[in-house]
Amino acid sequence: METARTRPSHRGSTVIRSARFEDVPEVLRIIARAVEEGCAHHYDRSQRRAVVQSYGSHLFVEALERFELVVAEKDDRLVGAAQLDPADGRLRALFVDDTHQGRGVGGALLAEVEARAIRRGLGRLHGAMALNAVPFYARHGFRRCAGPSQLTGRVLVPVVAMEKPLGAHLTR
Ligand SMILES: CC(C)(COP(=O)(O)OP(=O)(O)OC[C@H]1O[C@@H](n2cnc3c(N)ncnc32)[C@H](O)[C@@H]1OP(=O)(O)O)[C@@H](O)C(=O)NCCC(=O)NCCS
Repeated sequence: METARTRPSHRGSTVIRSARFEDVPEVLRIIARAVEEGCAHHYDRSQRRAVVQSYGSHLFVEALERFELVVAEKDDRLVGAAQLDPADGRLRALFVDDTHQGRGVGGALLAEVEARAIRRGLGRLHGAMALNAVPFYARHGFRRCAGPSQLTGRVLVPVVAMEKPLGAHLTR
């Protein structure tokens, strides 16, 4: 049965829906293409490879377990994905296919993740953001916060810890 959590939403011609297990290989391909195109000016090849590999080694296991994986679909083709840890509001992934960046898909995925976090009563969304994506998150209400300045792993990958308070209007 569809619930508010799983029901697909439409933003223009983009459908935002919960991921199915069989979506995971294409999501991994989107991550690889998104990083290659979107992060090329801020991260070198070994850093980009380290990021892509970290998702490759975890995403299958995590896809339908404790994290919520959401995908964006356009004309029956996956064009983006986002992953939320519903336990603490961590945005674990947000990637848009290189051919679809800059057309509102990332904003639509972020809006869906935010709506899901609010429905769960979470107080904030937060994450370790890619350097190239900091202006995007700032435009969507995120601000810098305390947190890691690099990803864990053999390759040094600098990131910016950012957060967005949710439901502030309820406490005013
Ligand atoms: C960062 C990322 C997820 C953003 O997704 P995106 O789909 O490119 O972002 P959007 O299109 O929603 O927004 C970016 C800009 O595109 C433009 N844009 C948005 N909708 C548009 C539309 N319909 N037509 C034309 N331009 C548009 C705007 O300038 C927008 O800026 P705004 O936020 O001030 O509106 C994506 O670029 C990406 O995958 N980058 C590489 C991987 C990465 O860094 N991921 C983040 C890890 S933390």
